[in-house]
This record gives sequence, structure tokens and C-alpha cells, in this order.
Amino acid sequence: MSLHLPTYSSIISPEEYIRINTHEHLYIANADNFIKELVAIEAEKLSTSIEVIELGCGPARILTLIGQVKNINLTGVDYDEDFIQYASRKIKEQCLPIKVISDDVTNYVHPFPVDVFYSEGFHHHVKKGIPLKSYLENIYNQLKNGGVYIIGDEYLPEYSNNLERRIKAVIWYSHIISNGLNSGFNYLAQEEVKTLLDDLNENHNEEAVKSKEQIGLIIENVNLIEDAAKTKDFQMANKLASRLLDKIDELYNTKSIGDNSIDLSRGDYKISDSIFRNEVENIGFRVELVKRFGPAYDVGGVFVYLLRK
Ligand SMILES: C[S@@+](CC[C@H](N)C(=O)[O-])C[C@H]1O[C@@H](n2cnc3c(N)ncnc32)[C@H](O)[C@@H]1O
Repeated sequence: MSLHLPTYSSIISPEEYIRINTHEHLYIANADNFIKELVAIEAEKLSTSIEVIELGCGPARILTLIGQVKNINLTGVDYDEDFIQYASRKIKEQCLPIKVISDDVTNYVHPFPVDVFYSEGFHHHVKKGIPLKSYLENIYNQLKNGGVYIIGDEYLPEYSNNLERRIKAVIWYSHIISNGLNSGFNYLAQEEVKTLLDDLNENHNEEAVKSKEQIGLIIENVNLIEDAAKTKDFQMANKLASRLLDKIDELYNTKSIGDNSIDLSRGDYKISDSIFRNEVENIGFRVELVKRFGPAYDVGGVFVYLLRK
């Protein structure tokens, strides 16, 4: 049902994944800590322990952080067996009372009604259409009335068609990649370039495989695009992003090269606030709160939403 294969651990090692996201990314760690605060607020409301589940927990990058919240029974679910094995070892080593389960969250049924679901960097991996609806309905139905789904994820500024979405994606990733390069985080920058290409191909060129030429082209162009966005010259940023997209499309490729980090897709597909609200409100969730972590200029950000049932 989920249609994306559980291949994330074949693309990046758990250690590198944790390092770049927690210690090098501009905004993710701040969003992680805000999610922890929101879980703690929900836990303080009740006198008994609450059921908390992380959807798409990966190699337990933030599971152990959330595990510091008092009075919660915490479970992490992910369908990537290798990430789950890594998570399980990490939790055992730290003697933490956290459960991890290998399952697809579009089907996962928790043995108890749930107070809090949360996810970080997960929502944009679920294929649109039936898989998205199945996962949201599945968790909505398992939440107690008044329970919450806390979602941290990357969001683009508003767009009105597919081409505009792709342009906004180029400008957002240019912001992250350019800052990564300038801070000497070359691995993070490379990983974000590949993620951008996966995002551009998703729901667009499904047969496409990334190429080294496309990666080089993006690295050459991100600083100019970020400089234009930083000075709020969005006309120029759009023009440069659009030109870059044309050149990326000219290098359309379907040949694998035997390097998983290039051949496999991370299945990313970033959307805007209004599209996201539409997705969750259609299921019945009420958006109670949103906090944005990003630059002062409008290129997107990591947003944390609190959705109430
Ligand atoms: C970008 S990682 C985020 C991991 C973690 N939440 C974090 O913040 O580090 C996305 C994770 O979602 C998992 N995932 C994607 N679709 C899934 C599904 N349908 N069921 C379970 N896990 C899924 C992937 O295996 C991957 O580990």
C-alpha cells in the first residue's frame, strides 16, 4: 500500500543520517526540541502515563530525546528493518523503556488507544493518494478523542502548479545546500542535492535516475540562487531556479550506476502549508498550532504542526 520501498538504510548509514540531521542541518534540531516540548505538555495534562508513538522513527534519531519526557509509554514504528535493528540496539545500550516495531504505518495497529502520535521528516515520504489517506485515517482512528498528531516536516512556500512547486523546491534546497557548503558540511550538502533531485522526479519523472552531472550542476548554482533569495529578489531567484530546472531536465537519465545513494530514491515530495492543511483537515484533524523554523525570507522552513482529533 505504501508504494515506496523501505530502502532508506541502503542509501545512508544510521550514524551519518543522525549526524547530518541532528548536528548539521540548520533547523531540524530546533524542531525536534519543540516536538519534545509539545509531547511534554500533552503528558502533563493527565495523571496516568500516556501512549505515544513515533511514525517513521528511522534509526531512533529523536526517539531517545522524546524518551526523556516523563509519564509516557513510547513506541517507534518504521518499516526499514535495518534502521529498526539499529534503533533497538541503541535503546538497549541506553537501557531505555522504549519499544520499536518494524511495520508499515499505513497498516500498523497499536494494542492500546493512542494519546499522541508524532513524526519528524516522515509525512513527505508517504505517496500521495491512497497511501496518504490510509496512513492518516489509520492514525486518526487509533487516536483517543482529544488526542494529537504532532508533525515536524519541511514545507515550501505556496505554489499554484507543478512547475511552480519544482521552482520553490529548488529555492528551498538551495538555501539548505548553500549554507551546508559554506559551513563545510559537504556530506550534508551532497545528501540534500540528491534529495532535491529525488523530490523533483517524484510524481513527475518516475523512471528517472539521478546522475553525477545533475549533482554537479546543482552544486554550481545553489549559492547564486540563495544570494538572490536572501536579498528578497525573488524574481531573480525564480529565474535562476527555472533555468537550473531546464538544465537538470536536459540531463534526464534512466541508467543506474551501482551507487545506492544515487540510484535509489528517498521518495521525498515537499508541499506547502495550504496543501498540507487540506490533506489533514479532510481526515478530520483540526490544526491547533503551527511553529515555523526557517530564515526571515520566505523560502520555506521546517514547520511543526499540532493536529487535534
Ligand atoms: C527521513 S526518515 C525520518 C526518520 C526520523 N523520523 C527522524 O526524524 O530522523 C523517514 C523514515 O520514514 C520511514 N518510512 C517511510 N514510509 C514509511 C511507512 N509507510 N511505514 C513505516 N515507515 C516508513 C523510512 O523508512 C524512514 O526511516
